[in-house]
Amino acid sequence: MIAMKEIYRKWYEQVIKELEVMNGIRWRKLGKTPRAILISGMGGSGIVGDYVQTLASKRVEVPIFVVKDYKIPMWVSSDDLTIVISYSGNTRETIRCYREALKARAQVVVITSNGLLKEYAKKDNIPLIPVIQGLVPRASLPSMLIACLYVLEKFGLPVVSRDEIHESIHVLKEIHENELLSIADKIIGKIPVIITVTDYSPLAWRFKNELNENSKMPAKVEIIPEWAHNDIVGWEAPYNIEKYIVLMLKPRIPTDELSLQMLNYAKKYFEKQGLNVIGIEIAGKSLLAQLLYGSLIAGLISVIVAEKRGISPITTESINEYKNYIVKYFTI
Ligand code: F6R
Repeated sequence: MIAMKEIYRKWYEQVIKELEVMNGIRWRKLGKTPRAILISGMGGSGIVGDYVQTLASKRVEVPIFVVKDYKIPMWVSSDDLTIVISYSGNTRETIRCYREALKARAQVVVITSNGLLKEYAKKDNIPLIPVIQGLVPRASLPSMLIACLYVLEKFGLPVVSRDEIHESIHVLKEIHENELLSIADKIIGKIPVIITVTDYSPLAWRFKNELNENSKMPAKVEIIPEWAHNDIVGWEAPYNIEKYIVLMLKPRIPTDELSLQMLNYAKKYFEKQGLNVIGIEIAGKSLLAQLLYGSLIAGLISVIVAEKRGISPITTESINEYKNYIVKYFTI
């Protein structure tokens, strides 16, 4: 059985390996810089699109849209690029988007480790970007993320620098696991409310998904400042307030005063309502390093929670059941 913790601990190696793989690819001539980019994927593959969208929003002028569905938007045309990501290569929603993107005559690139998508991309002569094999999708985040960022670079849209990638490799090696044990203890038996600011939004969703899939428990995400325009009212008279615990993701070294003040406001507000707020500090200078470091912490915490609960972090039976159910409704 794959040991999730061991895989997470070696995430830095995944980054190094994927860079080697990317450098070794004989890239065919790609098309022009796209007008817009659609990134399609579900679950542990789809979240890669969220990371790339957030990172790219600060660095490139081409808009990026993420689709976690079986339909692509009608604006997609031959001016656009669709990056299709499915770790297994067999996710029906994503395969349907692949087909629709081809039909829309968009440029298409596939990122996968295997499965039907690999087969189809070869048959359709579509650029195919390989990622690390033999893992579960969520454990392959660094590999898929580097692959996707590399694709953008090849289309003339550099989102991260080599220095930022090297910094990420460094921070992924610098985890103090002992500090995570007490966070895991506080989460057990509670419903975590993961709250942060917009730059960390993909991280908050990733954290939730890790608690869902590894720890087998529900969790909720709130993003500031939107949080202050609706959810905040829900805590004025909630049911069973003792069931919740707030996990606040914040940079170890804050650089944005406005974000800092908003986080402080939320912390004080929750504490006033009687909730326990646990601050989780995210290390790293660049946003890429911060997002990868935070994802690793989320992964490790969720696995520790699973271990403490005597649950296998690796299996995701309900996802398999859903996939078996839905497959008959997809003609591919
Ligand atoms: C994560 C996980 C799921 C899958 C999702 C899509 O580890 O198992 O969230 O990522 O069901 O499958 P793929 O990624 O193979 O397209």
